[in-house]
Amino acid sequence: MIDKATVARILDAADIVEVVSDFVSLRRRGVNYVGLCPFHNERTPSFSVSKTKGICHCFSCGKGGSPVNFIMEHEQLSYYEALKYLAKKYHIEVIEKELTDEEKAAQSEREGMLIVNEFATQSFENNLFNTQEGQDIGMSYFYERGFSENIIKKFRLGYSLDNSNDLFRTATAKGYNKKYLFDTGLCIDDKRGGGYDRFKGRVVFPVLNVAGKIIAFSARTLKNDQAKYVNSPESIIYTKGNELYGLYQAKHAIVKQNKCYLVEGNADVVSMHQAGFDNTIASLGTALTPNQVRMIHRFTENVTIMYDGDSAGIKAALKAINLLLPEGINVRVLLLPDGDDPDSFSKKHNATEFQEYIDNNEVDFIRFMKQMLLDNVKDDPIRRAAVVGDVVSSIALIPFEIQRSIYTKECSELFGVDEEILLREISKKIATNKQKEYEKKQKKTSEEENKVIEEVIPVPTIDVANKNNEVEQNSDSSFAKILYPYEKDIIRYVVKYGMIDFCAEDSSDKKMSLLSYVSEELALDDITFTHPIFEKIFSICKEYLNEYETDLAFFDDELTKEKEIALNEGINKIRRESILSIQEIEQKERELNTQIEYDALTKRNEFQIYYLEKKLSSHLDNEVRKTAFELIQEKHLLSKIHSRYGVLKNDVEKLDVLIPQALYNLKDALIQCHIKELQQALITTTDSQESLELLKSLQELYDIRKHLASYLGDRVVNPKN
Ligand code: CTP
Ligand code: MN
Repeated sequence: MIDKATVARILDAADIVEVVSDFVSLRRRGVNYVGLCPFHNERTPSFSVSKTKGICHCFSCGKGGSPVNFIMEHEQLSYYEALKYLAKKYHIEVIEKELTDEEKAAQSEREGMLIVNEFATQSFENNLFNTQEGQDIGMSYFYERGFSENIIKKFRLGYSLDNSNDLFRTATAKGYNKKYLFDTGLCIDDKRGGGYDRFKGRVVFPVLNVAGKIIAFSARTLKNDQAKYVNSPESIIYTKGNELYGLYQAKHAIVKQNKCYLVEGNADVVSMHQAGFDNTIASLGTALTPNQVRMIHRFTENVTIMYDGDSAGIKAALKAINLLLPEGINVRVLLLPDGDDPDSFSKKHNATEFQEYIDNNEVDFIRFMKQMLLDNVKDDPIRRAAVVGDVVSSIALIPFEIQRSIYTKECSELFGVDEEILLREISKKIATNKQKEYEKKQKKTSEEENKVIEEVIPVPTIDVANKNNEVEQNSDSSFAKILYPYEKDIIRYVVKYGMIDFCAEDSSDKKMSLLSYVSEELALDDITFTHPIFEKIFSICKEYLNEYETDLAFFDDELTKEKEIALNEGINKIRRESILSIQEIEQKERELNTQIEYDALTKRNEFQIYYLEKKLSSHLDNEVRKTAFELIQEKHLLSKIHSRYGVLKNDVEKLDVLIPQALYNLKDALIQCHIKELQQALITTTDSQESLELLKSLQELYDIRKHLASYLGDRVVNPKN
């Protein structure tokens, strides 16, 4: 458990752009940031991150949320695990109470395995640096290979003692669960209550996931008579085809340089980083997979393949090209001189020479294919046609027309084939590919469309005639079901705008928060939400009112300080521009002041508007968080649909009308429910006295309806408006 104040500190510190940036390469677009969604496969970015709102959201698959939600979803962590992750990122100390045995047992399997892997890594590191055997065998091997101490530390390389159960003994003695030692594959069950170390006598390369957690190991032998590498088995924390060796260490460099080098071996990655090419990664000893390609594409769209020049390497490179192209990635290939791999090449040349070699020898995939496939069969027309066919198939995989046309032109020049002919062939291939893809996707798409329509329908309109129908049709079902959409409408406004200063159109100048206004209005008529989660969210919101006052006061103080600083800096700058006349200076200072006031006001408005949204979408309660986020998203969805019909106006500007309407809609629906009830009773009763009373009550309800309607004006009641 983490105490409440610490939770608040963590949530305050977590900046959604920073948090998401650790996993997705973001670009600025307007006020938001966009990138490729990490939760589904896509080529054009639909993942949007709003710094001011503190949330992210994929317009395509709908996933996202607050920083906590994002980490929970992305790293598959629980709420508390995600908080701890953020605490670590922002250097916030979390003091947890000692876990009881039960809590230990309840700790998720995943977490348990990660903890054991971290322990093993530290133990391997310790062996390497602090034991005689580690120094004599492991360290001298690394030094022989030219690995520096820095790079060994960066990749957390280690050594597993040449002893059948050293790790098993130390880990179990420290209280680590055997189960996790076996599940991670670090140890192998000897079926007699003990275990063997899988990696004994080897140097160890830990495999880190993109978040830096150790999910597996790759252990290299130092002897000649053993399989070169022994790897961790796949497990619930490790799927080989989804991970890339070195990505954690390389991701920032990849984003910064907007380019990545793809090599074959762990040793190549380490050597490349040491040589200064720290944007290098490798697939884990397997052929590249589509998931790995997607992972790479989150960080860059430029990949240079640097595989060995032998025939296996070339084959693997050709395969990789066809996996990378459909993602819209620009693929280049660098062939190293015969017999060299990136590791050996980087040892023979200094960084400048290596860079020069890259600049001179890196070619795009078409040149590479021509070189590889055509070189020794120069003028055989049949072979040539086959190679052009292969290149055409590859070009047809590229999803973007401009890229395709550039490569087509190049292909035409390189192979001396008419461009028109190539274009025709490419179109044919694309058509076939599309047909296949279409058939695959058709089913999925129709399901998704249905879902969108379902989500839109339950939101009430102010069309009363239609609403009457709905009430009639639903007369058998419970009131709660009828009222649900109206309640949802109100709670959505509260979540979205609850803390902003609100002043209803007709009311006096009394200023209060929108939340307080809604709360008072509902209390006047003794209305509570029938839907339990709405009621829960509503009461949570009300609880935040006090905290909000304090937070806003604090925010205002900070803002005042910021304004002063900005003003001083601005004035100094203006005065330094000495060529200005006094009048010009005065004019500039007035403008500066207006701008600063304006910026501050914008910030304050944003603080108010997003206050509840942020709080709720990071709330401890799963259901609250989920519902709140759905409500926030739904507005995006509605906006999109409304704007297609050109009727959308900015919500905020119309709240003074929208809120009373939403309240009216709910009250009216409630009254109609009562009317229905009374009408039903009237039909069934045989008592004339009771009939009269029922009629009287009914009349009262009709009157209230009319009164309500007139209060809001005719336009609401008259369906024609
Ligand atoms: N690999 C493996 N099992 C093997 C051989 C290779 O899992 N028996 C994987 C490892 O991830 C290795 C990669 O395939 O890193 C590429 O193999 P190789 O080029 O032979 O490995 P290097 O790491 O370059 O090893 P070294 O240079 O030390 O020989
Ligand atoms: Mn190698």
